[in-house]
Amino acid sequence: MTPPALSTSSAPSAVRIAGTGSYLPDRVLTNKDLEAMVETSDEWITARTGIRERRIAAEDQAASHLASEAGRRALEQAGMSAEEVTLIIVATITPDTFTPATACYVQQQLGCPRAVALDISAACSGFLYALEIARHLVGAGTFANALIIGTEKLSAFIDWTDRNTCVLFGDGAGAAVIVPSGDQGGRILSSQIGTDGNLADLLNIPVGGSACPITPQNAHEVRSVLAMAGREIFKHAVNLMRKASVDAIEAAGLTTADISLLIPHQANLRIIDAIVERLDFPKEDVYINLDRYGNTSAAAVAIALDEAHREGRIKRGDKVLLVAFGAGLTWASAVIEW
Ligand code: ACO
Repeated sequence: MTPPALSTSSAPSAVRIAGTGSYLPDRVLTNKDLEAMVETSDEWITARTGIRERRIAAEDQAASHLASEAGRRALEQAGMSAEEVTLIIVATITPDTFTPATACYVQQQLGCPRAVALDISAACSGFLYALEIARHLVGAGTFANALIIGTEKLSAFIDWTDRNTCVLFGDGAGAAVIVPSGDQGGRILSSQIGTDGNLADLLNIPVGGSACPITPQNAHEVRSVLAMAGREIFKHAVNLMRKASVDAIEAAGLTTADISLLIPHQANLRIIDAIVERLDFPKEDVYINLDRYGNTSAAAVAIALDEAHREGRIKRGDKVLLVAFGAGLTWASAVIEW
């Protein structure tokens, strides 16, 4: 049985998003390119997922480098200097190293000497988990502000001979700056996070951690790559994201009709279509970029939020619904008044 989501609609005081940023690596890997690598077709990938191409980070680009560039752009838009940042939260399942946290590298790369830096691992829900944590820590006055970043170099943890997974994922990063609302207007109206560890085995990177370390004895037969029960996850994703959407809208005291833009996790167009249909939400008000980037896990919602913002799809006073699910299983949602 799925446990209830942690409902936390009453932060001590309101916080808002002061700036957003994103970064996508230059290299594009198209469905046609994948046809030359595994037994697949552009038609299959497009019809089953909606993905047409994805970005792949350069060899010398780690998750922290993508994150820092997205963070720099978010700070620039917020009009905040790196020196002013007091908290950095990086959400990722593809950290630069097991330790220290990727956020420490980001702190160093951006030059944020005052900031406390920490990582969270909640897969595709990671950016919204970071939003909820930052909302409470900044809302309580524990930190003056927070730079939250979702970043992934999934290409480093993909089995490029497995057509079941390699066509789905891409690299990228997205970021947001969280500050007290003050008299500027704009605030996070509600947010929810939830977890069901009973479903942990549906999606994981089983090898390379303490449960199954890579040793000289097994190194030739095991690799640290992502494994997934696609069909099962699909089913849970639709149910969890529909419910998380309804819960966040209700916690904000709104109805679906009040939402100007829905930004869902960008995993599969069929999952998004199923949720939109169940919510009876207008398709034209759903932001989609998975055709260009594939599933970038913790970065996906953050990249989409930044693109929608910069394209003028989000105006002052608009209410935006963000919703995600991921390995864990985890899920999360938020309603933001811009
Ligand atoms: N090209 C061609 N055929 C393929 C490919 C491919 N790339 N991949 C699988 N197939 C085949 C399968 O082998 C299967 O063949 P079979 O019937 O002979 O066995 C057939 O296509 C159908 O496979 P299904 O798994 O039933 O395909 P489905 O329609 O479910 O789509 C998919 C698969 C795209 C993975 C879908 O299930 C999905 O999107 N699931 C959700 C995954 C997800 O969202 N993960 C996100 C979490 S990510 C995170 O947290 C990091």
